[in-house]
Amino acid sequence: MLTSHIYSLMRFTPSSKFLGFSNHFHSVIASSFSLTSKFPSSIAATMSTQNDTAALKTHQPLQIAKRLEKFQTTIFTQMSLLAIKHKAINLGQGFPNFDGPEFIKEAAIQSIRDGKNQYARGYGVPDLNIAISERFKKDTGLVVDPEKEVTVTSGCTEAIAATILGLINPGDEVIMFAPFYDSYEATLSMAGAKVKSVTLRPPDFAVPIEELKSIISKNTRAILINTPHNPTGKMFTREELDCIASLCIENDVLVFTDEVYDKLAFDMEHISMASLPGMYERTVTMNSLGKTFSLTGWKIGWAIAPPHLTWGVRQAHAYLTFATSHPFQCAAAVALRASDSYYEELKRDYMAKRAILVEGLKAVGFKVFPSSGTYFVVVDHTPFGLEDDIAFCEYLVKEVGVVAIPTSVFYLNPEEGKNLVRFTFCKDEGTIRSAVDRMKEKLKK
Ligand SMILES: Cc1ncc(COP(=O)(O)O)c(C=O)c1O
Repeated sequence: MLTSHIYSLMRFTPSSKFLGFSNHFHSVIASSFSLTSKFPSSIAATMSTQNDTAALKTHQPLQIAKRLEKFQTTIFTQMSLLAIKHKAINLGQGFPNFDGPEFIKEAAIQSIRDGKNQYARGYGVPDLNIAISERFKKDTGLVVDPEKEVTVTSGCTEAIAATILGLINPGDEVIMFAPFYDSYEATLSMAGAKVKSVTLRPPDFAVPIEELKSIISKNTRAILINTPHNPTGKMFTREELDCIASLCIENDVLVFTDEVYDKLAFDMEHISMASLPGMYERTVTMNSLGKTFSLTGWKIGWAIAPPHLTWGVRQAHAYLTFATSHPFQCAAAVALRASDSYYEELKRDYMAKRAILVEGLKAVGFKVFPSSGTYFVVVDHTPFGLEDDIAFCEYLVKEVGVVAIPTSVFYLNPEEGKNLVRFTFCKDEGTIRSAVDRMKEKLKK
């Protein structure tokens, strides 16, 4: 259980920004991370000692392609090792500590029994492509062709990669909103894109339209949006989306929109960029099963786009993974046809968890920023007097026994996130309450 934390955390932004975290931890962790990160956690955990020894013997320098150089070291590995050492409660990672619904798990088991065990069709099992298009119609009113406009991928992460690698040329300019989900920057780097960012600032993380206007131009190839937004919980308003849309149309810019939290929209209606007038033809909508069905380990995702954009996405997908897990795709089709009551209950449950965490964090003494969607809450940690988000999270895990995520890893300029940390409420209520109790007891101003 604890070792799985290491592996899952390792997928977050590795960043050389944090080399100064703590020399001791860095030297211990850099060696075990770099040598074991490609192995599953259980293996990685047992291999680290052998590999550390091997590294000492061979004195080989670590090797990595230039496009990934800056992503070498991960704060998350450091945090998770500390978490294990200090038996901390993990409100850092965005994965539920409860299981997905029985009817979906049964469908997967049945599909395996039915022999759906060989390669699936590259761009998706036909029934899943249909289920995705039906769901999209229900959610947005848009009718898409499941055969020509839907591509099934290995999670949204691969939808992001296939979209970027399939549609962005080296040197193309792409705009993101900071803080941003970690895979965007790394994947854009792999594509050789020129990355620009516009920062969403507390308390409401509103889109600074004038700033966006000043950096968007005819040289911009695409803009990446994420609503509901990780890590802030912000949801893009209709006015903001309208403004972004008209700038994109004016400058002939594509939109890549990550909507994995669309079913965790609590305080306002989720709006898909593709549904705005004139936008479908320039938009790739990316989503996945993980958050909506508490099945983050299944890694079934998809990209919806008009045929002229789907071509690039599918070509990249064809050579990245070719096809994703066959039986889980069959089960995903069943999941997406869940009754409305499933989605209502999911929302109700998460709203209850959000209330427990938000009230708890306020009672502890944090300044808590409103979260309208996702299962994250961002707080200002500065009332507790620590130097920055990294120092705060290190203190929190070591002295209090709770894991949170420092947000500076989600910015091109880490300074911008140094006052903010992210907590998740995708945990059972007992876990959330225990974490709050620990903070109440041990975190003093
Ligand atoms: C904003 C965002 N996009 C994409 C993903 C990855 O989704 P998947 O697990 O389907 O690859 C995550 C997971 O945390 C996320 O927060």
